[in-house]
Amino acid sequence: MQTDGMNKSTNTVWHSATITRSLRERLNAHRSVVLWFTGLSGSGKSTLAHAVEEKLYQLNCRTFVLDGDNVRQGLCSDLGFSVQDRSENIRRIGEAAKLLVESGVIAMTAFISPFRADRQRARSIFPHGDFIEIFCEASLDVCEQRDVKGLYQRARAGEVKEFTGISSPYEKPANPELAIRTGEWPLEDCVELVIEYLQQRNILSISLKGEL
Ligand code: ADX
Repeated sequence: MQTDGMNKSTNTVWHSATITRSLRERLNAHRSVVLWFTGLSGSGKSTLAHAVEEKLYQLNCRTFVLDGDNVRQGLCSDLGFSVQDRSENIRRIGEAAKLLVESGVIAMTAFISPFRADRQRARSIFPHGDFIEIFCEASLDVCEQRDVKGLYQRARAGEVKEFTGISSPYEKPANPELAIRTGEWPLEDCVELVIEYLQQRNILSISLKGEL
C-alpha cells in the first residue's frame, strides 16, 4: 500500500492553533525534535531509544517513543514488509512523529527504516535541524548472533520472507547526525552520546527570554 502522491483529502482547510509549538516548548523548557533511530533488526534501536527516554525523563523532559514492533500492532497493522509497505510504514511514522514534535515533546522512533529515500522523505517534512538521524551501527553478524526474536534463524530457513539484511536490503545512512556502535559499546555509553549531542545543540534547555 502506498498513498504517496495520492492526496485524496481535498476540500480541507488547515486550522492554525493559537497555542503554538514554541509556546509548548517554553512550557516544557526544552525544544522538541525527533530522534530517528535506524538500523537492522536486533541492532538495539528500541533498547537505546527507551534508555535515552529514561535519561530524558530524569532531566524533566517530555518524550514519547514510537516503536516498530508496537506500532505495527496498531496504526500500521495493515502493512507487511514489501518495499511499498515499509515505505508507507515510514511515511506514517514520519507524520506521527511530526504531530508529536508539534505537541512539544522529544519524539523518538525506532524502526528499521531500511530505505534511504523513505528516511529522506521523513526528514523533509521537518524544519531544518529538527530531524536527528541516529544510525544504530551493529553488524549483521552481531544482530544474527543475538537473534533475540529468533527471526534471523527463521529468515535463513526461508520461513520469514523479505527479511532485512538477509533477503531484503538495508541502506546505511550516508550522513546521519549520529552513528552509534550499538553492537560494540555498552548501553550507558551510547545513551551518553545521544544526551551529549542534545546538550551541544541546546535542545535540552531553552532561553526564557522573549514574549509569550
Ligand atoms: S520497517 O522496515 O518497516 O522499518 P519495522 O521497524 O516497522 O520495519 O519492523 C521491524 C520489526 O518487525 C523487526 O524488528 C521484526 O521484529 C519484525 N519483522 C517481521 N518480519 C520482518 C521482516 N521481513 N523484515 C524485518 N523485520 C521483520
